[in-house]
Amino acid sequence: MRKIALASIIVSLGLLGACSQGTSNDMKGMDHSSMDMSHESVTELKSSLGKNELSFPKILKPDREDNKSISYTIRAQQGISEIFDGIKTKTYGYNGDFLGPVIRVEKGMKVTIHLVNDLKEDTTFHWHGLEVPGNVDGGPHKVLKPGESETIQFIVKQNAATLWFHPHPMHETGNQVFKGLAGLLYIDDKNSEKLDIPKTYGKDDLPIILQDKIFTDDKQLDYDKVMNEDGTTGDTLLINGVVDPKLTLDRKKVRLRILNGSNMRNYKLHFDNNMEFQQIASDGGFLNKANTTKEIAVAPSERVEVIADLTKVKGDVVTLINEDNTTILPIHLKESTNNSKTTETAMALNNLEISTEVKNKKVTKTIKLAGMGKDVTINNKKFDPNRIDFTQKQNETEVWEIENMKDSMGGMNHPFHIHGTQFQVISIDGKEPPENLSGLKDTISLKPGQKAKIAVKFTEKGVYMFHCHILEHEDNGMMGQIKVD
Ligand code: C2O
Ligand code: CU
Ligand code: CU
Repeated sequence: MRKIALASIIVSLGLLGACSQGTSNDMKGMDHSSMDMSHESVTELKSSLGKNELSFPKILKPDREDNKSISYTIRAQQGISEIFDGIKTKTYGYNGDFLGPVIRVEKGMKVTIHLVNDLKEDTTFHWHGLEVPGNVDGGPHKVLKPGESETIQFIVKQNAATLWFHPHPMHETGNQVFKGLAGLLYIDDKNSEKLDIPKTYGKDDLPIILQDKIFTDDKQLDYDKVMNEDGTTGDTLLINGVVDPKLTLDRKKVRLRILNGSNMRNYKLHFDNNMEFQQIASDGGFLNKANTTKEIAVAPSERVEVIADLTKVKGDVVTLINEDNTTILPIHLKESTNNSKTTETAMALNNLEISTEVKNKKVTKTIKLAGMGKDVTINNKKFDPNRIDFTQKQNETEVWEIENMKDSMGGMNHPFHIHGTQFQVISIDGKEPPENLSGLKDTISLKPGQKAKIAVKFTEKGVYMFHCHILEHEDNGMMGQIKVD
């Protein structure tokens, strides 16, 4: 404990030193209140100027498909993207220049994916939020070298959800995601197909991938230049890879599937007219019923699905805003079409529960998240690929207690993620979780000093990672492994 606190002070002094070398303009860009409180040096995000119409990733065409099985090819590759008018930016992408397509699968299907590494460096293909056997989960052990390929197979057993995929190679996850390797994976099921909610992709069911990037003067992504051990933050917001995004829509109900695909930045979103909207899903699928709210937080790697009723907007523009008042996305409204889906607040979306038996179970696994910078640890340890930290039986629910340790410098938020499972939050600091955390989760973001109890069940076997989803913390070894058998 003492060692960590001392290290924290030393690194913080280093941070302040670096800061004071900058011009006073640089100083303005740093969020001092949060830096002093919590070590984080978060680059100020510029508002979207609303110049470019948002585009949506393509839905990936299957190689083959029948009603029980589907197969795809996913290729990690280098590309050139025109993010800024007339300028070529070097990027990475899946089956394209930048980011990835949406992979759509149905519950019950047997999925075959042919993975190809066309990069000049090692990579892996991780399915974030998917309950699949450890050997196809794409963690740091499953490296594909440049030019290598592999075919994996799994059956989708979980319910409808908005998941995603990204690389996971040791020490390189942050870098590769930053350059553009990230895509969405949608699971559909009977429930999601019959629910009376917007579900026309690209029309009223819209993916919103939030990422902050930083560019060199010649508009190249430069991860090394901005690399920060406590998480790389950029000044430029991209949504679905589009800079200065705006969205033009019919005046009706829309569903936004928001993924925070940023390396470390947190967002807390609201509309500029302060209107209410409905959260219908979290990481692992639908909540039991819609949660009406005016703002919503999304930590790195989390997904939230919300329904916004745009018929309620008075003017012609409504804008999605971040908590610090940055413009995230101006939405321009066309004429009213009034074919609005109902989505009554009371509508049953799911039937999740946690039994009292599970709630009363003793804590059998304790996770202590601590440190900052290079000193981040879980239970005082750094990741060791040859060490199994925990074991758990397949299909057995255990209660894990996750604590974000406060240190003398305050500490910082850590979004804690577990592979191969969707867990349920039993309590936070001894209290029932708020409604936005009442559904299935694969990531829980804790503030310094917060402690959560979660019910964790693995439905498949294998070795799985658990880690902080600040990608630079993960790369710095804030990660452990659990073996499920
Ligand atoms: Cu997004 Cu190890 O995961
Ligand atoms: Cu994951
Ligand atoms: Cu962390």
